[in-house]
Amino acid sequence: MNRCQWKYVLLCLCLCGSRELAPVMAQEANYDEAKVPAYTLPDLLTDLSGAPVTTPQQWQQGRRAEVLGLFEQHVFGRLPDYRVQLRTKLRSEVSDAVGGLAHRRELTVYFTADDSGPQMDLLIYTPAAATGPVPAFLGLNFNGNQAIEADSRLHITQSWVRNNRELGIEDNRATEATRGSEASRWSVERIVKAGYGLVTIYYGDIDPDFDDGFRNGIHSLGEAVSGERAGDAGGSISAWSWGLSRALDVLQSDARIDAARVAVFGHSRLGKTSLWAGAADQRFAMVISNNSGCGGAAWSRRAFGETVARINRSFPHWFCVNHRKYNNNEGALPVDHHMLIALAAPRPVYVASAVEDQWADPRGEYLSLWHAGVVYRLFGRAGMPSEELPGLDMPVQTDVGYHIRSGKHDVTDYDWQQYVKFADRHLKAH
Ligand code: GCU
Repeated sequence: MNRCQWKYVLLCLCLCGSRELAPVMAQEANYDEAKVPAYTLPDLLTDLSGAPVTTPQQWQQGRRAEVLGLFEQHVFGRLPDYRVQLRTKLRSEVSDAVGGLAHRRELTVYFTADDSGPQMDLLIYTPAAATGPVPAFLGLNFNGNQAIEADSRLHITQSWVRNNRELGIEDNRATEATRGSEASRWSVERIVKAGYGLVTIYYGDIDPDFDDGFRNGIHSLGEAVSGERAGDAGGSISAWSWGLSRALDVLQSDARIDAARVAVFGHSRLGKTSLWAGAADQRFAMVISNNSGCGGAAWSRRAFGETVARINRSFPHWFCVNHRKYNNNEGALPVDHHMLIALAAPRPVYVASAVEDQWADPRGEYLSLWHAGVVYRLFGRAGMPSEELPGLDMPVQTDVGYHIRSGKHDVTDYDWQQYVKFADRHLKAH
């Protein structure tokens, strides 16, 4: 390995956020463009019978369902049709959050008639000055709703939290110290000042992020599975996406949010989730993927940085079991991730990368977006203007958006600045 490659490996060890990755990554990850294997991409605009797709109708009524079905079958899996009856309970409401700029609610959503059954807490910010329903960003968070803002009035999540395990602490309950710990990732002030709402949910409410054989979280809403999980049974990413759709169900009757103008957002594993949620549920008006990498915006076939084999080994519960057939065998996948992005079309989609986040393969993330452009063009919309990666910190926004910013794997205020601008362009015009 040359010096530059070592530098990437060290960077990834520091940045990828999961200690489990360290021991084998150095031997596995490729960061050399010259070593990206030759590949042929599945064609978005040729259907499974070999017929060309030439009209928006053919995409919307036929090819789209095929591509979605292939992702269910081979990548994320399907969940049973949980027949839930959503109930909500307002836990708190204040009109002086974020220095008086925001109205803020905590709303518990129960999935069954039992208050101790599966449930999730929505944290809902809307501009204090709003006089009617506002467009909003909806996204999952990593550490509990109390981590968004250091305000002692927020309830601390009672769900399992992962960070303690990574710190070697036995008790997986969030502590007082986690208040505001994720604040830098949520530019609430910028968002509400620009006239948007922000709705966030702790992802562990929906499905705790560890492999327990699919028993906890919303998986418990289905029949208990004995023995091996079916090859196409949905994993955690499907569960988290499902939770986002249930949040959107609840927002349909919220007087402060315009549910027809909700952008689904996510970072990293939750960026893979926002792409899948936006693909599966066309009610989301906009889709945003922040540093989503392997299994998200990045092409699997490039096998650059994190690979299919690596992600399935580190996180066996994220994808369906069938996805493992493509470990070191990406060429056999009947889809690749430009097709996941295309499932957002013709709705605006934004993909963001960070230059030091080579583990997530920024070039692969960009190329996916570029190739998804054929479907946007089918609808008379504009994709990315060039196959060349835009310059560092030079966002490009058309009907799709992209930027690669300086710095590491994270969500920053710079990222939110671009998302708000993109939303101004597409959600405000309606
Ligand atoms: C790990 C994992 C990535 C994931 C990231 C995260 O780094 O390998 O695929 O995106 O964790 O979600 O934080």
